[in-house]
Amino acid sequence: MNDAPAEARQSREMAAALLSWYDRHRRALPWRAAAGHRADPYHVWLSEIMLQQTTVVTVGPYFQKFLAAWPTVATLAGAPLDDILKAWAGLGYYARARNLHKCAKAVVTDHHGVFPDTEEALLKLPGIGPYTAAAIAAIAFDRPAAAIDGNVERVVSRAFALREPLPETKPQIRDLTRAMVPETRAGDFAQALMDLGATVCTPRRANCLICPWSGSCLGQAQGIAEDLPRKRPKAPKPTRHGTVFWIARSDGAVLVRARPEKGLLGGMTEFPSTQWTEGAEPANPLSQAPLGTGWRKLAGAVRHTFTHFHLELDVWASEPVPRDGCDLPGCRWVDPVDLPAEALPTLMRKVSAHAQAAGDD
Ligand code: ADE
Repeated sequence: MNDAPAEARQSREMAAALLSWYDRHRRALPWRAAAGHRADPYHVWLSEIMLQQTTVVTVGPYFQKFLAAWPTVATLAGAPLDDILKAWAGLGYYARARNLHKCAKAVVTDHHGVFPDTEEALLKLPGIGPYTAAAIAAIAFDRPAAAIDGNVERVVSRAFALREPLPETKPQIRDLTRAMVPETRAGDFAQALMDLGATVCTPRRANCLICPWSGSCLGQAQGIAEDLPRKRPKAPKPTRHGTVFWIARSDGAVLVRARPEKGLLGGMTEFPSTQWTEGAEPANPLSQAPLGTGWRKLAGAVRHTFTHFHLELDVWASEPVPRDGCDLPGCRWVDPVDLPAEALPTLMRKVSAHAQAAGDD
């Protein structure tokens, strides 16, 4: 189709059909305002940060707990970071909780405690990327912004039968979505698209019979909706290797440290390890141990798969080190019974289970 007025009419009709469906089927979510009302920007921001890579069901109780403890952005900004990190435990990626705190402080110091109301200004705040800036601008301020996440990419790819693989179609998806965003009710439109992707046009089932776009959906008309979006075949994942050090003190406490704030598992807790590298392992990994003697290699290995690579870690256990004089900068000693409350990523929980099982042998 390259008839501009017809395309514009089509976009308007699709937006209207979606909004009328939303009026009947909108989900009641704790951070949503009642129909016809605008949500509190603080609630919208908090929920959007929590919803990054976590489900609506998981986020609900966390959202309520945060609001009970910190009812305004100013109270959150004034809270000790440690309290926020503790309340965040279970939502993953502590770097996001740190950014949450930084952002709250920036809103207080740079914006008099009031969230800015444009995508552009929101984008400048810590932890707010293009999707989140658009979602807040639309939902909290009714700005005509297109909030495009993976769910929206799927729904739009199907509605317009985009057969080229993602990510090549991202610019097209952006243009098609922007063209549909209505001048009024932009916030409802954004949330309606989210609800459509979550409850009707789901990854495995398109459920076209109950879809408000079934009359116009090109993916459905062509019988390919559930095959979309296409993705480029993934490059096989490489395998990285490393050695992790299980170092216990004579009183049983084990050595942990915080990972760097930026990058993979940013800010989370880990047992000290070598670099994780592809190919040959370093000849003498033990030379990289921060401490320890009388090393014993535990049988087996710990395996974990990240988005871009598989990881295999050998685990070496030291003989218990003396209680005194073994404090290291950047490291802490934790009683194993307290490990469950630590910000340990799944990989490190596997390491802990592996080492403790070996200790029971
Ligand atoms: N997923 C991400 N943001 C959301 C929102 N505001 N409502 C429902 N689902 C979402």
